Amino acid sequence: MVKVDLSGAAPFFTSVGPDYASAKCAHETLTQGSGLGAEFTGWLQLPQRIRDTELERILRAAETIRSRSGALVVIGIGGSYLGARGAIELLKPIPGPGDPRVFFVGNTLSADALSDTLAQLGDMDFDVNVISKSGTTLEPAVSFRIFRELLAKKYGDRADEHIFATTDARRGVLKSLADAHGWESFVVPDDVGGRFSVLSAVGLLPMAVAGIDVRRVVDAAQEAFTALDLRSPENPAWQYAAARQHLYGKGYDIEILGCYEPSFRFMAEWWKQLYGESEGKDGKGIFPASVEYTADLHSMGQFIQSGPRRLMETVVRFDQSRSACLFPEESENADGLNYIAGRDLSQVCSVAADAVKQAHIDGGVPNLVIHLPRRDEEGFAQMVCFFELACGISGYMSQVNPFDQPGVEAYKKNMFRMLGKPGAD
Ligand code: PA5
Repeated sequence: MVKVDLSGAAPFFTSVGPDYASAKCAHETLTQGSGLGAEFTGWLQLPQRIRDTELERILRAAETIRSRSGALVVIGIGGSYLGARGAIELLKPIPGPGDPRVFFVGNTLSADALSDTLAQLGDMDFDVNVISKSGTTLEPAVSFRIFRELLAKKYGDRADEHIFATTDARRGVLKSLADAHGWESFVVPDDVGGRFSVLSAVGLLPMAVAGIDVRRVVDAAQEAFTALDLRSPENPAWQYAAARQHLYGKGYDIEILGCYEPSFRFMAEWWKQLYGESEGKDGKGIFPASVEYTADLHSMGQFIQSGPRRLMETVVRFDQSRSACLFPEESENADGLNYIAGRDLSQVCSVAADAVKQAHIDGGVPNLVIHLPRRDEEGFAQMVCFFELACGISGYMSQVNPFDQPGVEAYKKNMFRMLGKPGAD
């Protein structure tokens, strides 16, 4: 299970320390559904609900796609793709034999990015999973029209069989199109916002197509939410939420999330949306940023070590490596590296992480460590449940509605007006 190590943050706490009474209150507000945005807290029950509703159908659809296509094109933006992409890059960075490639489009308006994906797709057989809760978001809608045309050219009147839509159960353009064309559809539940939806069909269908064992993910997520229901300062979600809010109160208003696995990159993107969109409002919020260690120690290390002292650092560590890599001894030792010969690279990496932690603490950066057992389905599920629950608790502790995102509408109004969308004036 997730463990939080606050030893590197404790030197920066006041004598009062993190406010666990407030974390408890926020946790209860969340689970009783009595707080702001309570109508969007259905993610707490997603593992059980998905098993009761769509899991079998998700697995069947994934099998159909895996058996006939070399690729799945996932069309979606924000919460409609980051979780699946994070999971696939973390757990399946290289497709195994028989695993289709998964392309993510509809998360940009770049013509170059789209044409690069089309070039990579070539003449492969493919299916499309279009994901949009609202069904009206411009970026995925633009890509979807282009890929529908491509499907029609390639598969003629069988094109509709290659489209899987994940959207609202009742409303929206995508839902109407899906009904009209008979596309197999999956639901983004009404009470689950995009950034909390990775354990619904939004995340699970692309993950299953990529060859991730989503039953294991769902089982582990259910266990994790049960374990995280603990009402005590031993709860890792309380520890993380309360520590970061305590540090925020002391002026640490930027949080960098780091990990020593390059495959974590899109999980960090998922985390940034989760915390940024949930907490950055009403003039408040901790700015979420991410770094990739050890690579970024050679680019951002200077700033982290000695720039303005507003940073706190959260590091995700997988305690067990998936592969062994024994560093070889060399008789000449011309490169002078024999001092690490005979050690596994993961051990060297772990020493590096300890060294970085100490240096950053010495440099005035509070350090929180999230320990996860392994980079596997269980580790992924535990991490998702932990960060989601801590996010809800942390948002309530700072007295915002963690489940809305009114700010994201501002640019859309301008863009639609400037593009001449009818009725946008
Ligand atoms: O978390 C959110 O609500 C947003 O990031 C949405 O997921 C994103 O804007 C995509 O919206 P939609 O799924 O409606 O296309």
